[in-house]
Amino acid sequence: MELIRSTLKIGLEKPVKILHVTDSHLSFADEFDDARKHELKKRHFSSDKEKYLYEHIAYAKEHCDVLVHTGDLFDFVSHANTVKAREILSDDRIFFIAGNHEYSQYVGEAWEDNAYRMNSYMEIERMGGFGVPMLWNTRTVCGVNIVGIDNSYYLFEDWHLHRLKKEAEKGLPIILAIHDPLFEQSLYDFHRRRLPQEPTYLVGCDEEHLLPYSEFRAVQQRPDEPTKRMIDYIKSEPLIKCILTGHLHFSFESNVTPTLPQFVTGGGYDGVAREVTLV
Ligand SMILES: [Fe+2]
Repeated sequence: MELIRSTLKIGLEKPVKILHVTDSHLSFADEFDDARKHELKKRHFSSDKEKYLYEHIAYAKEHCDVLVHTGDLFDFVSHANTVKAREILSDDRIFFIAGNHEYSQYVGEAWEDNAYRMNSYMEIERMGGFGVPMLWNTRTVCGVNIVGIDNSYYLFEDWHLHRLKKEAEKGLPIILAIHDPLFEQSLYDFHRRRLPQEPTYLVGCDEEHLLPYSEFRAVQQRPDEPTKRMIDYIKSEPLIKCILTGHLHFSFESNVTPTLPQFVTGGGYDGVAREVTLV
C-alpha cells in the first residue's frame, strides 16, 4: 500500500487519526449473478484490489481511530459484491458512504440519475443490503463528527442541507466525507492539464468551467439550485473542518476556502490511502 500523510490543526485536545480510503473498485460475481456481471468481473477483477483493501483495514486497526471509505468500494451491483459489502462493513472501525459505482448495474451503460440510483438501491436491499447506510451516514469518533453524504451524481439535495445543519447544531468539528470533490480552481486546472479531453468530475462547476465539456458531461455535471445552496453552506459553516473525497483516482490537496481544505485521495485499487491526523 502507498500511504500519504496529512495533518490538520482543528484544536483537538487529543489527536484523532483517520485512514481515508476511496475507490477500491472490488469486482465479484457469483452463481446468483448474470453472465454480463461475470463479464464485468472478468474485465475488472484483480486480486490486488482486495489485498490492498485488507492492508488498509489492517493498518487502520493498528494505527487509526477509524477508516473512512468514500465510495466505489465496489465496481458494480452484484449479489457477490453485496455479500462482500456486508462482510467488510460489519467491522465497526469502518465508516462508509457510497459512490457512483455502488449503484452501477453494468458500468457506463445508462444515464445515472436518482431514479437509476434508487432502483439499484432497492435491488441491493433485496439482496440483503450493505448492512450500513449508503446515502447518508454519520458517526462521532473521539469527539469528531464524521458526516458522509452520497453526492456521487454531482448533486446535493435540500434534505442534505437540512440534515447537515442539524449535525452542525451538535457543535462538534465536522469532517465531510463525499465521493465527488467540490469545484476548486487549482484542482480544476490540474485536472484539465492532466486529462484535457475529460471533464473534471467536480461538483459545482459554473457555466464558464463547463464550457470545454461535451454536451453529455455538461448536462451530467451541471449543478442545480439545491447543489449550489449546499456548497454555499459547506463553505460558510466554520464547524466543517475538512472534506475527504475521491472519484478522481489521483491524489490532490487544496483549499475550497481559505479555512476549508479538501483532500482528494487516489485509488484504493492502486493501494493508495491517506492518513489524516487531526490535532
Ligand atoms: Fe467514482
